[in-house]
Amino acid sequence: MSAYSDKFCQLDVLLTQERAFWQFMPFACHEYPWQHSHPALSGWLDSLTDQDVANLLQDTAALIDELAVFLPALPEVHQLADIPALPLVSEVSPHLPRGLDVGIPGRKWQQVLAFNAVLPSHQLPWLEWCAGKGYLGRVLAAYHHTQVTSLEWQQSLTLAGQSAADQLGLPMTFVQADAFAPESASVIRPDQHAVALHACGDLHVSLLERVAAKRTVAVSVSPCCYHLIRHDTYQPLSAPAKTSELRLSKHDLRMPLQETVTAGQRVKQQRFVEVSYRLGFDALQKYLTGNDAYLSVPNVQKALLKNGFADFCRWAAAQKGLQLPQGIDYAHWQQQGEACFRKVERMELVRQAFRRPLEMWLVFDRALFMENAGYQVSVGTFCDKPVTPRNIMIHAQLEK
Ligand SMILES: C[S@@+](CC[C@H](N)C(=O)[O-])C[C@H]1O[C@@H](n2cnc3c(N)ncnc32)[C@H](O)[C@@H]1O
Repeated sequence: MSAYSDKFCQLDVLLTQERAFWQFMPFACHEYPWQHSHPALSGWLDSLTDQDVANLLQDTAALIDELAVFLPALPEVHQLADIPALPLVSEVSPHLPRGLDVGIPGRKWQQVLAFNAVLPSHQLPWLEWCAGKGYLGRVLAAYHHTQVTSLEWQQSLTLAGQSAADQLGLPMTFVQADAFAPESASVIRPDQHAVALHACGDLHVSLLERVAAKRTVAVSVSPCCYHLIRHDTYQPLSAPAKTSELRLSKHDLRMPLQETVTAGQRVKQQRFVEVSYRLGFDALQKYLTGNDAYLSVPNVQKALLKNGFADFCRWAAAQKGLQLPQGIDYAHWQQQGEACFRKVERMELVRQAFRRPLEMWLVFDRALFMENAGYQVSVGTFCDKPVTPRNIMIHAQLEK
């Protein structure tokens, strides 16, 4: 058994055992799912001030310490999900031709440099999957002096990317194609190193599957947007994941991406208003219709929120074809919404503790799939979280 298979199996057992604490929809819950099974946890959550919640959301280590009192398995879950930084193969700030970073947003440039710095050099042509404007490809072409093929679906991006590469004199060729189309498999060849920086859900999975089928020498991907999949539920790749009891919905798969980023006061206030309005309207519609299921309402123009809760309810009711009677006590339902918002925040705090572990379950599934296909796999981070929270790389190369 490989180290990843061991870790995956232990993580799988614990995530399955603890699923009542993360596999649910906070919006749809009237009370904590553990209200009766774990009253001490519920009491502790209710005792937290909004500032406590905000502080703990920013400090995972402190959150785990606090939650471990009620969920003793949590430290082990986190230990299993802890991965090392990948060793640097080259410098993070190598000497590169001037002008290479023109038009590349600062954080993306840092990601691209960090990604390049941990890539082993096989001196093979590169295939850049879901390339966007080929920012990563630019650095690969300039640093390794090897040919890059950049596949991207959006024509405007391929045109912009090709034009920039030509101006910089880089050996890059853009291919405008749908990564899922059967013809796109023809750009994947055995004598290549395939890379994908932040290719969403099925896009990086399909790359791994095709690379394995073609016996391509090496592939390095940093996964993101695990929920962007074509099936309704997650389709496990590896044998251990196929035997897991976990069934992951798109809602579950969104979880790793919901790690909170530090938001300013204005953004926080806007979120409070919108979410509490939505929850207040939901409480009202449940009362009026007797229907206990959460009623989701489409995206709202932010300007409408400024008109107050009653106007929001009238708009939401019109969207859902619901008649609102006269004499509704809107202040009451607004208060209900605000109370629900505070509960939802505290449920999200508990789910927060499982975000990275669930991400690692998904990452280990991919790693095990590649191991089983005969690849030597390493999993680690390629940059720190402030550069991008999607900072995991799976590197696989054919065993010799
Ligand atoms: C999150 S972006 C990452 C882009 C680039 N790798 C980067 O890190 O800057 C994902 C890219 O995948 C492209 N994409 C989405 N669906 C695709 C498909 N079916 N085939 C090829 N590219 C696709 C998008 O247009 C987008 O440029």
